[in-house]
Amino acid sequence: MSEMCVAAYVAGDHLKEGDAYTATLRGVGSRVEYTLVAPIDGEIVGTICHCPPDGLSPAALAGPDEYEFRFLAIAPGAWGAGIGSALVADCEAQAIASGARYMLLSVIDSNERAINLYERLGYARLPEREWSPTPAGDSTSGASIRLLVMR
Ligand SMILES: CC(C)(COP(=O)(O)OP(=O)(O)OC[C@H]1O[C@@H](n2cnc3c(N)ncnc32)[C@H](O)[C@@H]1OP(=O)(O)O)[C@@H](O)C(=O)NCCC(=O)NCCS
Repeated sequence: MSEMCVAAYVAGDHLKEGDAYTATLRGVGSRVEYTLVAPIDGEIVGTICHCPPDGLSPAALAGPDEYEFRFLAIAPGAWGAGIGSALVADCEAQAIASGARYMLLSVIDSNERAINLYERLGYARLPEREWSPTPAGDSTSGASIRLLVMR
């Protein structure tokens, strides 16, 4: 699952193999209980990390009335089939069931494909909350990465 996650970001040209942030993507073990996968014929083709603001999940930004998702990735050969949208919809349902008012996400600023997808799903940018992953805010430094925030 972790290799598929890195392969998706590399295929999308958002990261290069060896960039510091790939270590964060590969760290699925530390967030496995919050991670859901989409299997097809026994193979994992999609993954998403559900982040309620419970103080334990890998939420980066979520406040008390927000639910966040992170590390959405679809295997490059399965793009465009609606799997990413379905994983987001499932997470939204979970967020509503938890009583959250908002769904929050971060996306690399150059990731036009994902930004278009999120806009189509009704998300809008919150410029005041943009950030870069650093040792204080994430497990691995990725200070050169700029993350837009959408809600
Ligand atoms: C961004 C990403 C998650 C999107 O996943 P996906 O499964 O391809 O997303 P979907 O198929 O639900 O939607 C993508 C597009 O395919 C279209 N689509 C959806 N179902 C479709 C279908 N059955 N047939 C054809 N096109 C379809 C959608 O309209 C959408 O178009 P849009 O981007 O112009 O709005 C995926 O490309 C990915 O993993 N990229 C690399 C990692 C990454 O960027 N992760 C996001 C981090 S924030």
